[in-house]
Amino acid sequence: MKKLVIGNLKMNLLSPQERERYLEFLSKELQGKKLKNTEIVVCPPFVHIESFVKSVGKKVRIGSQNIFWEEKGAYTGETSPVMLKNIKAQYAIIGHSERRRYFGETNETINLKLKSALRAGLTPIFCVGETKEEKGMDMTMDVIVRQIQEGLKDISRVLIEKIVIVYEPVWAVGSDVIPTSNEIMGAKLLIRKILTEKYGAKYVEKIRVIYGGSVNAKWAKQVCVDPEMDGVLVGRESLVPHEFVKIASIING
Ligand code: 13P
Repeated sequence: MKKLVIGNLKMNLLSPQERERYLEFLSKELQGKKLKNTEIVVCPPFVHIESFVKSVGKKVRIGSQNIFWEEKGAYTGETSPVMLKNIKAQYAIIGHSERRRYFGETNETINLKLKSALRAGLTPIFCVGETKEEKGMDMTMDVIVRQIQEGLKDISRVLIEKIVIVYEPVWAVGSDVIPTSNEIMGAKLLIRKILTEKYGAKYVEKIRVIYGGSVNAKWAKQVCVDPEMDGVLVGRESLVPHEFVKIASIING
């Protein structure tokens, strides 16, 4: 199974010029690189998705940072998963901690979004993880169990293998503090156990469980290679194509 290296560009690249410069650098970094064991995904803001598909869509896959759960209609300001699929996005980040925190997303709305992404044929990148306070209260396991159980409610075993799950502890996002390899491996084992109990071993083999939170080239081994994760979700460092592709090369092995 290929390792996933996903870049979440968040709310950056403020002008067409900035976008074009980013795309130029990314193309240069990817040129001539044979990363056979990795699949690279870049998730720019909605307004840049079509340009990304046109420019680098043959080398990397493109995803969104959010979606709405309805397909169409009177939902001012929202973006349909079908619209994204039709402009050739393939992935969608769902339930990122910044969306939970600033936009009131709950396990329930995240569940609706996961289902609508699957219906539209997008691969959901489903984020879970505990806050600093929850970790302090020794609640990490409870939080993850709840996020997964509620997030995946009524999702059938046939569809489940399409979902990518990200263990992204909220305290590790944007902080330059990372968990130990053992903590990451513990979270992965817990996630696999919940999924196996819910769906059966056969159906969860192919589900990719990746790590996110302050990933950089220096720590790629500790957060991905050592704990045998299936990839990484990269924030800040994905804004620097040279560093992003370096992370992919390390993970590619
Ligand atoms: P940083 O890599 O900047 O910590 O962000 C992580 C993240 O939120 C990726 O989705």
